[in-house]
Amino acid sequence: MAKLVFLCLALAPLFIHPGSAAPLLARPRDVPTPTPAIPPTSLTLSAQQQDYSAFDLGTNLLTPSSTITPLSTLPPQCSDATTASECPNAQYAAAEVTYDDCGSSWTICRCDTANMTLDAAAARLGQVPVGLRRYVATVVVAPAPAKHAYTLVTGDIHIFGEPEVDAWVHEAGHAYDWASGTPLSGSQGWTDALAADTCVPDVYSQTSAGEDFAQMTVMMVYSLLHGGALPPGWSGDCMARQMAYMAAQPTFNKDDLFGNTCAIADSQYSRHAVPPPVVPTRIQPDFPAQLQPEAPLKSSLGLPGLAAAETSEEDGTKHDNSASALYVGHAKIVMIAGLVAGWLW
Ligand SMILES: *[C@@H]1O[C@H](CO)[C@@H](O)[C@H](O)[C@H]1NC(C)=O
Repeated sequence: MAKLVFLCLALAPLFIHPGSAAPLLARPRDVPTPTPAIPPTSLTLSAQQQDYSAFDLGTNLLTPSSTITPLSTLPPQCSDATTASECPNAQYAAAEVTYDDCGSSWTICRCDTANMTLDAAAARLGQVPVGLRRYVATVVVAPAPAKHAYTLVTGDIHIFGEPEVDAWVHEAGHAYDWASGTPLSGSQGWTDALAADTCVPDVYSQTSAGEDFAQMTVMMVYSLLHGGALPPGWSGDCMARQMAYMAAQPTFNKDDLFGNTCAIADSQYSRHAVPPPVVPTRIQPDFPAQLQPEAPLKSSLGLPGLAAAETSEEDGTKHDNSASALYVGHAKIVMIAGLVAGWLW
């Protein structure tokens, strides 16, 4: 029986009060039996930058219009023990959110005491480009002292606090990574890319091949929105193979990614492929490349660093935190959730 545990490691104690840092249990549902995941070992590649605080995809990505329809009963994904425990002393309400770019809806379950309103959650999920959003299954929105999120191999995303669009894109990257049941981040191509490159984008990317894949998803979306340019402070050279792997995936075909319809015929693993009644005509704008700073932004080398987080706490910038997911089970690793992001103010 697929059983798994999500553990908050490393920096989690900095962001999550002790009561919520306990291991969480969850069961994957409706997912092809995953092949054993690559173990979530840290990467030894250097981090190009400390974190992703230098940019915000939320200012670039359009928001599709949506309609929200309350559901009278909670779907099973929102009533299992783990999910219930994430909404202490309160209750979930479920709703179907239909965007104008897709004929099938997304279910969002929101805890009454969640920091994010349902409207805000629907808008932020909507900003995830449709070519990635189509891999997202159910979204659970829950309260927490610090923002963070994780994704199950089922494609279900659990959001805590009020993470920015970058974090939603990161989680959608996990859902995409795992959509077939065999993660792309465990593929020979990704492994070879990591072996050939000399850096990853930021400290959080060093957590594992899977977290790097999700962070690189955010990089790719940025790059596609900026005429192929990377954000200020990043250079493509040392992570060229990772970028090339990403760019070769049909999901990162720009016309489809921002194409106003989830009916994209490139993948049998999409969870939302029903065309919208009318394909919207809005055009996702391109943005000019940002000027590269003369001196590198604060850079960081080495393995995921606690010291870095402490610095960040003082200077008040946001940054990804480092939580990670491990499996528990017999022979099989059934999940790498990815979690992510806690930011401090
Ligand atoms: C969420 O709301 C609670 C209660 O108001 C608050 O203590 C907590 O700091 C908030 N979390 C975030 C990430 O804003």
